[in-house]
Amino acid sequence: MLNNEHRSARILIIDDQTANTLLLEGILEEEDYQDYRSITDSRQALPVFLEYQPDLILLDLQMPHLNGFDVMHQLRPRIPSDTFFPILVLTADINPETKRQALAEGATDFVTKPFDATEVILRIRNLLQTRALHRQLQNQNQLLDEKVRQRTAELEETQIEILQRLALAAEYRDDDTGEHTQRVGQMSAQIAKALQLPEADVELIWRAAPLHDVGKIAIPDAILLKPGKLTPEEFHQMKTHTTLGAKMLSRGSFPLLQLAEEIALTHHEHWNGNGYLGLAGESIPIAGRIVAVADVFDALTHERPYKKAWSQDDAIAEIHRQNGGQFDPRIVEAFLNVRATTST
Ligand SMILES: [Fe+2]
Repeated sequence: MLNNEHRSARILIIDDQTANTLLLEGILEEEDYQDYRSITDSRQALPVFLEYQPDLILLDLQMPHLNGFDVMHQLRPRIPSDTFFPILVLTADINPETKRQALAEGATDFVTKPFDATEVILRIRNLLQTRALHRQLQNQNQLLDEKVRQRTAELEETQIEILQRLALAAEYRDDDTGEHTQRVGQMSAQIAKALQLPEADVELIWRAAPLHDVGKIAIPDAILLKPGKLTPEEFHQMKTHTTLGAKMLSRGSFPLLQLAEEIALTHHEHWNGNGYLGLAGESIPIAGRIVAVADVFDALTHERPYKKAWSQDDAIAEIHRQNGGQFDPRIVEAFLNVRATTST
């Protein structure tokens, strides 16, 4: 029995002998195939193939103008390599060399002339069934791919969300709006983009930079919220927020967490080596150098328990002043470009 899918399959017959095409059409008709087309001029094979989009071709080998090999040769580039497209070759010539050549050109199976109707129908049915199964498999694979993509995206979203909340938890300690970390993330990403870092890195920096101060969770309120100047001991303790943060984020198994750890550890390093750990120049990871500028600019332009907010111009002047000292000149240049484009 034929199922509907087979019955509606499109079958293209290419044979220069009308007697043969009529015979094959009769066999198809007998078996309830409803969609078939015949051509006797093989030069029409390509345009008809493109327009009709058949599921199966019944192809004669010996034809004037273009023989069966030429037709297969012409069609081959039009058949996607990941599909199963059956070509059933009809031939009176059954010598092994002809078969080998036909297989090499893309033939799937052979039927020898004169036709035996049962044999022709069996071959057609098998080929269409194989094509249908192949398609099903492909659809399932696509569905699976889509599911995996969705799950991966969900997982990434979850990671990002958890990290954002962690950054917020740290920030609520000294900024009840919780916006500083997000602004530092955005500005760091803009600087990274201006530096023409790869898009994936820009995205990672955007997501990881808000965690730069996560270590402040472990700094006592008396120090974190002190309105006045810190004593040397207090400042020493405050400085440990970099190593504490890095420790909290350490041994991360995904790139976002690994970058967050690097930023937490190095965002207070100075280009000239006078930062917390004494790293200098390019031995400071680029993400740390970027966040250093974004963090200072944002801290200067917003109010803190111990200071008023600076004007944008004053803050930019300060970044300039620290160019080559606290900050990497390349990063400062990128930062100034970002400011120039965002303020126009
Ligand atoms: Fe910090």
